[in-house]
Parts: sequence; structure tokens; C-alpha cells
Amino acid sequence: MVFNHQLIPSYLMFNTCNAFARVLPLKTLPVKTVCNVLRCLSNATSNRDQLSVTTNVYTSYLDSNSQQTLDLIKDSFKVIDDFVTEDEEQSLFKEIEPYVKRLRYETSHWDDAIHEYRETERSKWTQENQRIIDRVRNTAFPAGVAPIRSVHVLDLAKTGVIKAHVDAVRFCGDTIAGISLLSSSVMRLADETDNTVFVDALIKRRSLYIMSGIARYKFTHEILGQQMSVFKGQAIPRDRRISVICRNQPDYSQREDMNDNNYQIR
Ligand code: OGA
Ligand code: MN
Repeated sequence: MVFNHQLIPSYLMFNTCNAFARVLPLKTLPVKTVCNVLRCLSNATSNRDQLSVTTNVYTSYLDSNSQQTLDLIKDSFKVIDDFVTEDEEQSLFKEIEPYVKRLRYETSHWDDAIHEYRETERSKWTQENQRIIDRVRNTAFPAGVAPIRSVHVLDLAKTGVIKAHVDAVRFCGDTIAGISLLSSSVMRLADETDNTVFVDALIKRRSLYIMSGIARYKFTHEILGQQMSVFKGQAIPRDRRISVICRNQPDYSQREDMNDNNYQIR
């Protein structure tokens, strides 16, 4: 599917992508556009101070330069290590690879959120892989929550980077759950109002992270590039990384009230 830049005025491409989402119903968007408008880029830069304080860490997978921020985020960002087995990782890879290898890595993009990546959405899986997707959804989403049917697959090159952004509130609900294949990485969650305050999360290969509530709405998230990929003083080597991300439907009853400055947190 060809993405047509002409469809989107440049002034809508950055922080106003929620507004853009409102005028174009999800169903009418081409696949590539749907993936891309999921993100609202933050003004944050990646050149922030390294972590300076590590005290009383709640969980082994979180680290922060602010105890208060750790307190705030620990309930809304979880990582489950070894969520998929090596065999399951292979099984997902076998299904994803033939498709993504036909795509070219894009060096940069109109919303500038991701560098060196290729992505797709998939709603039909082999039986074995569907079972894994179901397990992700059952683990991440409370009963009664409607998942978005298509699963987002993002293939980030070894040298690729996901810059700080917030997923568009008009396109996806309060929970984002991602499995990481092929490589570990560090995800940084920075306070949207002060990006010098942040929490780093160790996202191991084959883990599942679940981001919801405050972590999803009030913090930007990013995947650190090779140079910055350090967790608790230890280098976390980056390789090609494929994430398989499940999201839930936004709460449509709240849509009219939603805007960039008024996130609904349920
Ligand atoms: C995204 C995103 C994170 C990941 O695609 O919006 O933040 O784990 N991806 O790949
Ligand atoms: Mn995102």
C-alpha cells in the first residue's frame, strides 16, 4: 500500500496527530498510515543526563533518576521476562520474516518518530501464533476490554531508534502490550512535562511489557539507540529487534473530550 504524503498537510504531522485522527476514521486509512499516526512525537530530545540516582528500585527491570517518578510509574509499567519461549519466538519470526523482508528499512519518517524500521499490521496468524497473541491480550487487557484486531509488527534495525513519543489517544486505548523478539533493549519513559525526569526499563528479548494509565498517557516512551543502550550501568547490546504490539480500542465514549492537554485516564 502506498502512503500518500499529499493527503496530510505538514502542519498536521507532528503534535496535532490526534486532531488528524479525529477527521479520518481508522477504517479508511491505509495500513501504513494507521501505523504512523499511532504516534505523537514529543519535543523531547534524547540528549538528557544519564541516570544519577538509583535508590530503592522496586523491580529489577526499572531504574530512574527520580525516586518519586519510580513511585509514580511502577504500577503502570510492567515487564514479564520470558513471556515467550525460544520456540515461540522462532514461530512468530517464521511468520513475520517472509513478509517484512520484502519491505525496505526506512531511514527516517514524516513524523520523525522512528528511524530505520519497517512495520506492518497483521490480524491473521497461524494457530500456534494466535495462541501467543491471545495470551498477550489475556495478560494485558482486563476482561471486557476490546482489543484492536490487527496486531502491530515493528521491525527495528540494529542501528534503528524509536524517539520519544506518546501513542495517539484517538487511535488506541489505555493499554499497550509488546513482545520483543531477537534483541533486548532499553525503553525510556520520560515525564511529558519535564523530560529530564525519566525511568528506564530493561526490555529483554522474549519479554512482554505492559504500559497503561500514567505510563501510557503522561510519559513519553522511546527505544534507546545503540550508543545510549545502557541499563544500571551495563551496556545492553542492540540488535535487530521485532516488536509485536497489541493495543486496545480507545474508549469512544470519551473521544469528544480528548485532546492533547486533556488525557482521560481510566
Ligand atoms: C510504537 C512504539 C515500541 C516497541 O510503535 O509506537 O512505541 O516496543 N513501539 O516497538
Ligand atoms: Mn509508541
